[in-house]
Amino acid sequence: MSADARASTDAIRRRKGGDPIVCLTAYTYPIASLLDPHVDLLLVGDSVAMVLHGHQTTLGATIDMMILHGQAVMRGARNACVVVDMPAGSYEASVAKALASARRIFEETGCHAVKLEGGTDVAGQIAAIVADGIPVMAHIGLQPQSVVKDGGYKIKGGTDESIKRLLADADAVEKAGAFSVVIEGTMEPVAAEITRRLTIPTIGIGASARCDGQVLVIDDAIGLTVDRVPKFVKEYAELRTEVSRAAMSYAAEVKARTFPTAEHVFKPKDKS
Ligand code: KIV
Repeated sequence: MSADARASTDAIRRRKGGDPIVCLTAYTYPIASLLDPHVDLLLVGDSVAMVLHGHQTTLGATIDMMILHGQAVMRGARNACVVVDMPAGSYEASVAKALASARRIFEETGCHAVKLEGGTDVAGQIAAIVADGIPVMAHIGLQPQSVVKDGGYKIKGGTDESIKRLLADADAVEKAGAFSVVIEGTMEPVAAEITRRLTIPTIGIGASARCDGQVLVIDDAIGLTVDRVPKFVKEYAELRTEVSRAAMSYAAEVKARTFPTAEHVFKPKDKS
C-alpha cells in the first residue's frame, strides 16, 4: 500500500455523517500492525500510561513516552491515520508551550495529527497548532487528564450547566480548526446533539452510537486490561485468559523438563 492510500485527516474530516469511522488505540508495533487493516484511525492515547506502564491515571504520561510509542505505532501503520495524544502538562499553560510540544511530537514520530483535551480553555492552543500545519483532534466531555481535579471519572451532560459547557466546548474546538473531536463519558442525547450540531466528525467513547465514529482502548477491547475496565466496554476477546494459559503451559513444560531447548533442536550430527 503506498503512503498516498493512507487515511488522511482530510479524508476523516469528509466522513462526517457518512460511513462510521473506526478507531482503536495502539501503543506498540505488533498491535498497530494487526489493527491497521481494520481501522481508519490509530490513536496513541495517553491511556498508555495506565494500560502499559501501570500508572493510576493518564497523568503519568510524558512527551518522551508518547513519542516512543508514537514511533513504534508509525512503524506498524500502513493505512490508518495515526494520532498521538499530547500528555498533561505539555500544552495547557500557554500557546507557545503547546506549539513546541505539538511540533516535537509531530516531527519526532511522523504522525498525522495530535490530540489534546479541553474545549474553550484550549481553543487558542488548537488554533495555533492548526495554523502551524499540524492537524488536531479535540477531546471533550469526560477528560481523563482532569480526573484528579474532578474527583473521579464523572459522566458529563447530566445538568443544564454541564450541557451548556459541553456545547460551548464543541463549538469552540470546531471553530479553532480541529478536524474531529472525541466525545468521552457523556450522556447519550447530549453526544447525539453535538454530533448533529458540528460539521466535523465526532468519535464517541462511552457516549453515543450516533457519533460519527467510535474509539476503544485496545487492551479493554481484547480483554487484556488487568485493572479497571469501564462499564460500557464490550470485550471482543479474552486475552487475559489466553496469556495466563500460555504461561501455565510453559511453566509446566519447564518444570517437567519437556521444554524443547536447543539440545532437541541442534542435536549433534550422527557421524556413523
Ligand atoms: O488516551 C486515550 O486512550 C484516549 C481515548 C480513550 C479516547 O484519549
